Amino acid sequence: MTFKVQDYYFKKAKKENYLARSVYKLEEIDKKFKILKKDNLVLDLGYYPGSWTQYTSKRVGVRGHVVAVDIQDINKSLSNLLNIQVFQKDVFEIRDIKDLNLATKVDVLLSDMAPNTTGIKSVDQARSLDLVVKIFEIMPTFLKKGGNTVVKIFEGPDAQTFLKSQKHLFQKMEYLRPKSTRSVSKEFFVIGIGLKA
Ligand SMILES: C[S@@+](CC[C@H](N)C(=O)[O-])C[C@H]1O[C@@H](n2cnc3c(N)ncnc32)[C@H](O)[C@@H]1O
Repeated sequence: MTFKVQDYYFKKAKKENYLARSVYKLEEIDKKFKILKKDNLVLDLGYYPGSWTQYTSKRVGVRGHVVAVDIQDINKSLSNLLNIQVFQKDVFEIRDIKDLNLATKVDVLLSDMAPNTTGIKSVDQARSLDLVVKIFEIMPTFLKKGGNTVVKIFEGPDAQTFLKSQKHLFQKMEYLRPKSTRSVSKEFFVIGIGLKA
């Protein structure tokens, strides 16, 4: 059953010319919570290889814009997308919107970032949480008032405690484990709707 599901999303991504099967996680979240809108300015952290960037580029349209960041080499196969800008950067080096050539804050902040996993549960959970803490730290600098966010996080007791402490930042905070998530994965997504001032 597990393999059938994996095979289904992998093949679907290939057929629909997406660079990764993870696009269907964002698609499900977007359809359910109405995260992205036409003309939005979006920051996509941990974009590589770029399926979320492909999806978002299409959703925001020609007057929208996607700024994609990853520590990996720039993926040249995204160069056909005219409304995106790609940076090779470590998220821990980003402090200000100017670091990403942005003139304003963004409407939506996405993060599918994941650490290099070791297989040691406590280490992987802690590394994932470090990334999430960093995102919430830069959130007020990068995300507009009223903006939305989608952030990947690995399950764990510290993750729950941290997310509860951030709940007040948004009008609504939801959690989702998309249908296309591999059964062995410990990831889920936190969805923040409407950043408060
Ligand atoms: C699961 S992949 C993202 C897949 C992508 N959303 C897609 O749809 O193609 C996670 C990415 O997070 C990136 N990443 C991990 N730590 C990072 C950091 N400190 N700064 C920037 N990117 C990071 C990794 O390099 C990796 O490419």
